[in-house]
Amino acid sequence: MEESFVEHARDGDIHVLRIANPPVNTLRTGVRAGLHAGIAACLKEGARAIVLIGAGRMFSAGAEMTEFSKPRQPPSLPEVFDAIETSRVPVIAAIHGSALGGGLELALACHARVAAPTATLGLPEVKRGFVPGAGGTQRLPRLIGGEAALRMIVTGEPVSAAEAQRLGFVDAVLDGKLEQAAIAWARENAGRSFTLARKREDRIQGADMAAFDAAAAALLKRSRGQESPKGCAVAVRAALTQSFEDGLIVEREQFQRLVAGEQSHALRHVFFGEREAARVPGMPADTLPLPVKRAVVIGAGTMGGGIAMCFANAGIPVTVLEQDEAALARGLKKCEANWERTVASGKLSAEEYAKRRAALSGTTDWDAVKEADIVVEAVFEDMAVKKEIFAKLDALARPGVVLASNTSTLDIDAIASATKRPELVVGMHFFSPANVMKLLEIVRGQASSWEAIATAMDVGKRIGKVNVVVGNCDGFVGNRMTGKRGFQLERLLLEGALPQDVDRVMEAYGMAMGPCATGDLAGLDIGAAVRKARGTVAPIADAIVAKGRFGQKTGKGWYLYDEKRQRHPDPEVTALIEEASAQHQVTRRRIEDAEILERMLLPMVNEGARILEEGIASRAVDIDVVFCNGFGWPAFRGGPMFWADRMGLKAVRDKLAHYAAATGDANLKPAALIEKLAAEGGTFAAMAQKKAA
Ligand code: NAI
Repeated sequence: MEESFVEHARDGDIHVLRIANPPVNTLRTGVRAGLHAGIAACLKEGARAIVLIGAGRMFSAGAEMTEFSKPRQPPSLPEVFDAIETSRVPVIAAIHGSALGGGLELALACHARVAAPTATLGLPEVKRGFVPGAGGTQRLPRLIGGEAALRMIVTGEPVSAAEAQRLGFVDAVLDGKLEQAAIAWARENAGRSFTLARKREDRIQGADMAAFDAAAAALLKRSRGQESPKGCAVAVRAALTQSFEDGLIVEREQFQRLVAGEQSHALRHVFFGEREAARVPGMPADTLPLPVKRAVVIGAGTMGGGIAMCFANAGIPVTVLEQDEAALARGLKKCEANWERTVASGKLSAEEYAKRRAALSGTTDWDAVKEADIVVEAVFEDMAVKKEIFAKLDALARPGVVLASNTSTLDIDAIASATKRPELVVGMHFFSPANVMKLLEIVRGQASSWEAIATAMDVGKRIGKVNVVVGNCDGFVGNRMTGKRGFQLERLLLEGALPQDVDRVMEAYGMAMGPCATGDLAGLDIGAAVRKARGTVAPIADAIVAKGRFGQKTGKGWYLYDEKRQRHPDPEVTALIEEASAQHQVTRRRIEDAEILERMLLPMVNEGARILEEGIASRAVDIDVVFCNGFGWPAFRGGPMFWADRMGLKAVRDKLAHYAAATGDANLKPAALIEKLAAEGGTFAAMAQKKAA
């Protein structure tokens, strides 16, 4: 039998069961067994009430997802819940930190719940691609009503203790040390009669099904192609129309179907990948970040303003430095307008806004750099300008302070060479809009010290980013890979597709925005300038730009834009593309959606493989994390490398070779790593496991 992970303590006739499976108290087999045996032991010893609490940081973060792929070991969670629900004395869940997923389901099976004021409670299963699978979809609606439960379960967003009490699934919010407070509450209330969630029919009967269905439809509209939100709605609906037992059967069907599905695998791949990305191979375990209490951002343009907001939002005082008062005022005003929009939408309180605004200051005086614990530079993308600025920063910043650049294409080593502290120079590559996008590519230069990397990572974490440490190369990971799609996009248009076809296919796959619409948003002139600098051509894209169609900023690009910035296919673009086909003597044909998708994704996968060969990314999953957090890639698809593994690398190799020959795209010549893995029958995922072993 597995070791027990539950401690049994006694305070007179109030017994305490403490889940002790650090760090997050997942409900692994030893916890379930410990709870099952623990309840029996408490009853045998004549407990008057049982307090169920988490040792350490939290109540419980939920099921142990690594056990999903293994044969199930008894007791199951429902068996533990049965033991609780048939207990003749009340079992009271005492929640601090988080109660998430199976952790909250455990609490919902108890007779009552008390919580610390700072606790958060939620059912995030939907975000891992499945539905709560241990009765959460049946018990929560019986406690708080169908629509409130639906919202929590379909969005997966946790609520605060106060909100949980208001909704009706927390009985009391207790101040002070939670275990003692919960014992006192249990002693006071032990004689009371409690109605278990499963027995509560009152909230369910007579539910307004039309209102429920309308609420479900509104929530599901946001889920693009994701399946789990629909499964959640089906399961919660059953709580309103069926008995508790039959509802559990519906929930189980949804759970089993979804958890075995492709989307759930993809979502868990990204979820674990984000945690994996926080561990950098080769970084000594004892590396400590340098303390950062104040930041300085150079440049208050599109990126600098957003980056400064990230610091202010996290409560880190930040100063933005601009070249003149007018640019500074413009930059600060944009930050304010941004925050004001969030206040207007109800997502930010006026007090919190005031706090954030107070953390942000602006200046044109370079002496401000002397106060910085970290500097992030976000000025024009020009090496001469960057070098001049880094020399100045090096002279002004205190010794030991990290100097970071937000450059998206320039060589970090060249920038570092302008300083006498190259070991403290790193890239911190944010994505636009910087205050919204989660991704932070941390670029490790040749000279960057582990301490500097650890500092950038620590700062990234504090400002709520998902960090991925990458090597120094043109475009780093994300932009380098998306940059390789251009040739195939041109060819697809030339062979028969239109911009709206390509975008429709990519958006149906789940991308936030197709490549043509993205180009229009970023500005087509930027891509044209890059091609010019590199001496490459893209006949169709170049012709579009030659017509002065730079994208949204000129009202037209691949599309025509109306006053509301809605895009519309433009006959002028169609004519221009058809003309190009004629000129190149290509007979236009109907191109299947599957082919469009492949030809947009394969160039990225091939470049991703090269990025792995060169060690620019440490693991394939790091690349997937980049795309799911910075490029609007739907996490339920798992990212480009996951897509390739699922297709099988032999098929990927064959398709790459086919399209390379058919379209003359030298970039599609299969990367050596793909050739090797295809020959061995390997995968990108297994490669990382092998490396780690
Ligand atoms: P921007 O043109 O909006 O802002 C640059 C700002 O820097 C301007 O406000 C300018 O007045 C200021 N500036 C220029 N020289 C200065 C100096 N000597 N001292 C103080 N301030 C100075 O440019 P954007 O888009 O914000 O880009 C900034 C950097 O971020 C570039 O390196 C760019 O490659 C990078 N980047 C841009 C992304 C984007 O989507 N726009 C995404 C990721 C990185």
